[in-house]
Formats: sequence, structure tokens, C-alpha cells
Amino acid sequence: MKSRVKRTPIIAANWKMHKTVGDGLEFIEELLTLLGSGPQAVEVVICPPFTALYPLGQRLQGTAIKLGAQNMFWEDWGAYTGEVSPGMLRETGAEYVIIGHSERRRLLGETDRTVNLKIKRALAWGLRPIMCVGETLAEREAGKAVATVRRQLVEGLEGVELTQPGLVVAYEPVWAIGTGVNALPQDAQEISRLIREDLAGMFGSSVAEGVRILYGGSVNPSNIGGFTCQPDIDGALVGGASLEARSLAQIVKETEATVHGS
Ligand code: PGA
Repeated sequence: MKSRVKRTPIIAANWKMHKTVGDGLEFIEELLTLLGSGPQAVEVVICPPFTALYPLGQRLQGTAIKLGAQNMFWEDWGAYTGEVSPGMLRETGAEYVIIGHSERRRLLGETDRTVNLKIKRALAWGLRPIMCVGETLAEREAGKAVATVRRQLVEGLEGVELTQPGLVVAYEPVWAIGTGVNALPQDAQEISRLIREDLAGMFGSSVAEGVRILYGGSVNPSNIGGFTCQPDIDGALVGGASLEARSLAQIVKETEATVHGS
């Protein structure tokens, strides 16, 4: 049972490099049938590949489902071949942007510094960053999980000015992503509590109390409830289990049940 400040939970679907425009539109039709298009107790955010953002944004207009991107560049325009700017994301209808996902950190050279530049630029453009933090298995085994998450948080948010809780943090232990091995809800809660404590130190407690903190890593319809009933966990960033509309809708409904049960 949670007693906590009212924060609307978020279920964000990270499609990664999956789905064409046609696949994405088909998914949205099915999801709208399953969830309805009216207001929801849970904010649902679909993060498709760049190529599907605009057409999905058009389809989602007038519905309660929101759109997010999976990455962005930190400059507004210029000679940056292959990059996409925050203004271009806004034009598609995106309201959220995932920043610093561990796959980008591990495979594509993302660092705490680039995360920091991107978060500042996203906020300046009125995009809500979903900032990903989380330790690797080696870091966890060396007893450095908390230190790693704190470093990512402090360096990623250095110089960021936050007077409103427009930031979302996703705690995603790297060893739990795509592995079918999820973190223990109590462990994820403890790290989320520390994240909120650090945010309070940086931005004051009223901002920190409003920031949504998500768990990510092998979330599915059967385990989501264990996370969303924790006092500092306000939803999830879902990869594999977000690729089927039925499974995503189930995760949303389970989350709604924990909100209503609180
Ligand atoms: P997963 O991915 O749910 O497939 O583990 C989560 C993520 O990478 O955001």
C-alpha cells in the first residue's frame, strides 16, 4: 500500500529499432481499441524510431497517448550529419525524449557529459527528458551500484535548472535489460528513494517530490505490479514487452490497479 505524493505514473514504451511506420500505426489502432482514447490514470508514452515519429504523432492527436523520441542531439541545427534536433522532435508532436539509454552509452559513445548537454537542450525546448541511469553487473558485483547511479545523476544534471518537475528519471540496471532477469522491487525502490533524495539536494524537495522515477529492465505484465506499488517508483520504461499492444495494455492496466489500490 503506498502513501505518497500524487504523481501520475508513466508507462513508456521503448520500441528501440523495431517497427516500420505501418507496423507502428497498426499497433496504435490496437492499443486505442484496448485502452480507449479518453483520459487515463496512467500516462502512456510511445517511443518509436525517428522515422515513425511524425505519422504516429499525427494519429495520436486528440488521444491521451503521448509520443516520445529515443534520442536527440544537443544543438538546434547545423552540420551534424545523421543527428536530429530537439526542435525537429517537437515538430513531430513528441513531448518526451529518452536520454542516455544504456544501449547508447555502451554501443554509441554516450557519456554523462553528452547526457548533460542533451538534457539541458531538451528542457530548453520544452521536451521532457526520460533520463536513464543504472549500473552494469560488474559495478553491482563490486558494490558500486549506488555510486554509479549517483555519478550518472550528478554529472548528467550538472548545471541543469529545474523549477518544475519536467524531468523523468528511469532507473534501469543494465543487467536487467532484455535479459528476463528483473531487479528485486525492494532493491529498485531503495535506489529510487536515493535518486529522489539526491534530486531533493539538487533542486529542492518540492521539485523532487514531483519527478516521476521509472523502473526499467525486463518489465512484463506479471511483474509490473511489484514495482509500481513501491512508494518511489512511478511507472516503467518497457522494451521487449511493449512491442505487442496487448502486453503493453496489460502493463498499463496493472499499473492503474496499483494507483487505484493506493
Ligand atoms: P526490456 O528493455 O524491457 O526489454 O528489458 C527496457 C529498456 O531497455 O528500456
